[in-house]
Amino acid sequence: MTRATDEQFDEASFWSLEPGPGESLRACLERTLRQAIREGSLRAGVELPSSRRLAAQLGVSRGVASDAYAELEAQGYLLLATRRAPVVAQVPSVREPAAATHAAAVPSPRFDMTPTTPDVTLFPRRRWAAALAAAVREAPDDALDYGDSRGSLLLRARLADELGRTRGVICEPDQIIVVQGATQGLDLVLRALRDTNAARVAVEDPSLDRQHKQIRGLGLELAGQPVDRDGLIVGGLEADAVVVSPAHQFPTGAVLSGARRRELLAWSRDCGGLIIEDDYDAEFRYDREPVRALQGLDPDRVVYAGTTAKTLAPSLRIGWLVVPERLVEPLAALKELLDDLSPTLEQIALAQLIEGGHYQRHIRRARAVYRTRRDRLVGALARHFPGLSVFGVAAGLSVMLELPAGADDHGMKRAAGEAGIRVEALSGYSIDDRGRRGLLIGYGRLHEAAVDAAVAALHRAVAPELG
Ligand SMILES: Cc1ncc(COP(=O)(O)O)c(C=O)c1O
Repeated sequence: MTRATDEQFDEASFWSLEPGPGESLRACLERTLRQAIREGSLRAGVELPSSRRLAAQLGVSRGVASDAYAELEAQGYLLLATRRAPVVAQVPSVREPAAATHAAAVPSPRFDMTPTTPDVTLFPRRRWAAALAAAVREAPDDALDYGDSRGSLLLRARLADELGRTRGVICEPDQIIVVQGATQGLDLVLRALRDTNAARVAVEDPSLDRQHKQIRGLGLELAGQPVDRDGLIVGGLEADAVVVSPAHQFPTGAVLSGARRRELLAWSRDCGGLIIEDDYDAEFRYDREPVRALQGLDPDRVVYAGTTAKTLAPSLRIGWLVVPERLVEPLAALKELLDDLSPTLEQIALAQLIEGGHYQRHIRRARAVYRTRRDRLVGALARHFPGLSVFGVAAGLSVMLELPAGADDHGMKRAAGEAGIRVEALSGYSIDDRGRRGLLIGYGRLHEAAVDAAVAALHRAVAPELG
């Protein structure tokens, strides 16, 4: 008999419990173990830890572990005997269909209204190909070598100018670190915080769920801070750092008001807390110029994160951090430790697009497309859902349709999914799933000609849930 090693059960990434929406910890543990048994990573005859040990290793109550074991025994996956370790039973090793969250296993929806994705068909392929070809031809040999972990100086110099001009960011190229998307930027900052014994990181509640996982995944405490029409509510904020999206709060679409900006900076000055500004989609404001970056008001207190994920394409994985002087060295060292540096030729290509004005021209074109789609979407929502309102300013790539308190937005997301429509549930972005209810409806991928049909289909799918 083989014993499942403690390492196997201690391996957080392998055994971490990630309950799906509405799923209990017990159900999640049961599913995780059943999947491992069926996929063959827990083979017949393997001894599992006692329910007490498993519970301690996973940080759940003993009842959760013993109930999951009992259920798996009833289903024939485990053999349980008193005073003996549970043993994996012989079952046909069939790969379970991948979890519903696994993109590859999900058929393409009829109407893709994912809130976080841009229209990648707008990507300026020819311009990019030309810029990349020029970079390959003309870049000095040094550009093919290891180099400064902060990235290409050519790109950092262009970004310093461009971010100053378009976002009011104040920095020298030295303070910029080119990263693999804003996601890696946040990862670096969280690691640097952890290295200085920071323990607690706050986020807006609701906010991007992946950021919650990143914070918890690095062993930091996650704290949620509520959001209203003026953005993050600063009162009561207690943390070593806070992640905010001031220009366009994700996912509600609120803009951080002037008073709240002052309050947040005062908070940072008082307690030394770091502000991490996620400026993920400020390029897409449709009714006026976007509000300027918070970083420009106090560059010593704010780490600014930007990305090309919405403006060009998520798969480029090009983003940037603008960091206070004191954080340049530790963050550059962490970037080097993780992956040396981001691919240089692509950085040079992007620098050329910016320098030639093509980047801004592309953004202007995309902005016009998204603006039309948004206007149509807001109009169609008003016609089909007359009792509900759209929250947030005219910006970004999605709108939030507010639902009455207690509405089952997860259920609506599911019903929409079954009808071939992809939308997200607002409560999926809240920390404890107890916040406001709403549907997040993206128009990045929804062609303007399809908007009416998509909203009509959405209404048909979710109307029964609305009552
Ligand atoms: C709120 C928010 N922040 C940041 C990002 C950017 O992530 P990345 O640049 O790593 O693709 C996204 C992308 O979906 C986002 O929705």
